[in-house]
Amino acid sequence: MTDLKTTLSEAVAAAFAAEGVDAARAAVTPSDRPDLADFQSNGALAAAKALKANPRDLAARVAERLKDDARLLSVEVAGPGFINLKVADDALSARAQEIAADADHAGAAIVASPRQVVIDYGGPNVAKPMHVGHLRSAIIGESLKRIFRFRGDKVTGDAHFGDWGFQMGLLIVACGDEGQNLPGADAFMAEGDGPFPEDSPVTLADLDRLYPLAAGRAKEDPAFRDRARRATAELQSGRAGYRALWRHFVIVSREALEREYAALSVDFDLWNGESDAHPLMDQMIAHLRDTGLLVEDDGAQVVHVAKPGETRKKKLPDGSVIEAPSPPPLLVISSEGSAMYGTTDLATILDRKQAIGPDLVLYVVDERQAEHFQQVFRAAYLVGYAPEGSLEHLGFGTMNGADGKPFKTRAGGVLKLRDLIDMATDKARERLQEARLGDDLPSDEFEAIAHKVAIAALKFADLSNARTTSYVFDLDRFTSFEGKTGPYLLYQAVRIKSLLRKAEDQGAAPGPIMIADPAERDLALTLDAFSSAVADAYDKRMPHLLAEHAYRIAQSFSKFYAACPVLAAPDEATRGSRLTLSAAALRQLETALDLLGIETPERM
Ligand code: ARG
Repeated sequence: MTDLKTTLSEAVAAAFAAEGVDAARAAVTPSDRPDLADFQSNGALAAAKALKANPRDLAARVAERLKDDARLLSVEVAGPGFINLKVADDALSARAQEIAADADHAGAAIVASPRQVVIDYGGPNVAKPMHVGHLRSAIIGESLKRIFRFRGDKVTGDAHFGDWGFQMGLLIVACGDEGQNLPGADAFMAEGDGPFPEDSPVTLADLDRLYPLAAGRAKEDPAFRDRARRATAELQSGRAGYRALWRHFVIVSREALEREYAALSVDFDLWNGESDAHPLMDQMIAHLRDTGLLVEDDGAQVVHVAKPGETRKKKLPDGSVIEAPSPPPLLVISSEGSAMYGTTDLATILDRKQAIGPDLVLYVVDERQAEHFQQVFRAAYLVGYAPEGSLEHLGFGTMNGADGKPFKTRAGGVLKLRDLIDMATDKARERLQEARLGDDLPSDEFEAIAHKVAIAALKFADLSNARTTSYVFDLDRFTSFEGKTGPYLLYQAVRIKSLLRKAEDQGAAPGPIMIADPAERDLALTLDAFSSAVADAYDKRMPHLLAEHAYRIAQSFSKFYAACPVLAAPDEATRGSRLTLSAAALRQLETALDLLGIETPERM
């Protein structure tokens, strides 16, 4: 499946080559002046410079060669040497027809050689409440997973569940201390091999309550902190009672998280946790030792990852300033003997290498962890766990409240995904009622629609911003049926669905596409541009380029629908053509939304 941009680039390249000019400069882009042309090539300008020729003359000679191309309605030279191309109606009709017939990819090209890709996203933690960073990671990661898979790669989405760090030791100690409030918890504190109770001594509510308490106490009470550190190390080295209790924490947390993610249309192929890398630890330590990478540093074991000369100023506790390596060394084993966040990440790279053998791993994690990934990736390249450049950290900005700080709920607490979804659903319901949408539908269908509108609002608001920028949470704007919003796009999709249903009821059949009206041209050109929108979103790992395209389809369709009657078209052939064009627009819009992780209702 080749889009017009590519087809025309090839034609222009051939004409350049015939003029003895480097064809690589010929690339065609959508026109800056859609009133004058559909596409343009600026290649003559740079090429003429290299040849010391007059750019307008060169452009004119190239244009002359293209004049007889049946796919082009006109070829004109403009300004200092731009070549303006207008596509012939027939060629545009043929391309639109091809898009309409492409049930799988709605006109988008797929990759020539599929890769094995792992996307590490979501990254929720046992017991620790999710924050906006986790929400964004889930939304962006899910979209990237779908985009990569759509283009043909073999993709594994992994939640990389945070189940192995210090917070586990905190919870174990907190549970032990609360023995009398948590029936059954005491049993897990016993040394020895058990057996230990099958029933969880904690509920989700217990975990939600215990974690902040324990984290708070660890800050103030060094003895408590030390006990938690020791418990972490003992858990990791296999103390049976701690492992048994830990398993309950993991199960209870994961059940709740799976429910919340399902409500957000996010799902993972793997729910591997940091703990799953534990069995590889010995092997990894041996590799690091054998290669001489693991060195002792003040009782801890570290890997130096900065190259000679890579330093930054660092202030020591005594106030003096030194040049310290940057990035700092990766801490592999703490002085207590525990595996750290970076340790499990490095071991996970080994695990994935052995289990999956990925060509590419994308980490969709808060920009604030950039240095952590720099350390881990460098260590992985040094020890040979991944080919240089195959690990990518895709950072993102934060979702902020009106105060410009990371979004919090009204009570000032960190965000709970469930509460956020409920809040958005309440607003969506209100909006639907205001617009008198869905008021004739059964209440369970209305509820399902409100939920879809809410998720579309949250996700589109997030994904319409470049991944790397921060944005402000504004539910009123996100849920509006007007403007660049998820609900607007759903509404447009539903409108096309209802048009197509009506056509079917009236026995109006779709027919071959014949582009004639300017609004039809515009819609067909928009549909043609889907392929490069998907490819760009994929290459740059930037879903907003696809969000942008979804919005363009909706706008183009709106204009087309206002200018070109469909059911009341002047004749049957025109009606058939417009129905096919409408169906193609719908499929592409729904596909684009699906790639953003957004589901479209049948009606509203
Ligand atoms: N659990 C981590 C956190 O809450 C995020 C995990 C990201 N993924 C990774 N491979 N480190 O910060």
